[in-house]
Amino acid sequence: MEERKVNMPLIGEQAPEFTAMTTEGVINFPADYKGKWAILFSHPADFTPVCTTEFMTFASLQDEFKALNCELIGLSIDSIHSHIAWLKKIEEFQWKDIKNVKVKFPVIEDVSMNVASKYGMVHDKGGTSAVRAVFYVDPKGIIRTILYYPASCGRNFNELKRILIALQKSDKDGVATPADWHPGQDTIIPPPNTAPGANERLAKEGDNCLDWFLCFRKEK
Ligand code: BEZ
Repeated sequence: MEERKVNMPLIGEQAPEFTAMTTEGVINFPADYKGKWAILFSHPADFTPVCTTEFMTFASLQDEFKALNCELIGLSIDSIHSHIAWLKKIEEFQWKDIKNVKVKFPVIEDVSMNVASKYGMVHDKGGTSAVRAVFYVDPKGIIRTILYYPASCGRNFNELKRILIALQKSDKDGVATPADWHPGQDTIIPPPNTAPGANERLAKEGDNCLDWFLCFRKEK
């Protein structure tokens, strides 16, 4: 059997290009998403329990992601007809406080595994189901974050949203975000990378610096 060529994209690289059929028609990625953030994510299979809870949650949050200038794009190694039937079924479900949700974002059919191979989404060599991968692609088409979860563990959607907001904050204000940062909390001023720069910071040290390399920027 011919060995499948698998690419593992890296943070900072240009997102691999593809054209794919989705539940919302054909998309060209990342060209169609220029000027917007995109979260491209994979799930192992349609009609499976953990994936169903994830899609209900994604659907319940899709307007919040849109408000953050971020489009969602799902993918599994299933056919369009399978996606359509599964998403229709999901509309009937109630789980926690989520009910009657309609998935409005595109879900890629990737039976050929073309996209999954370009994004390293299948980790089981010779297997045919994707892990729970998440790629954040910025408005310039650059990969900014990559997450991989195993099939057994549903994703944390608060974290998915927090990462997007943190990336946008870093871009807007030229800051980094500390551990467990949430919007409204203090951010981190990038440390100097020269000795004179470090001395300057030491001289200016105030309440917001623990040392020359750890200074916080106060948020209102
Ligand atoms: C699930 O979504 O429940 C699932 C999918 C593939 C393997 C294990 C669990």
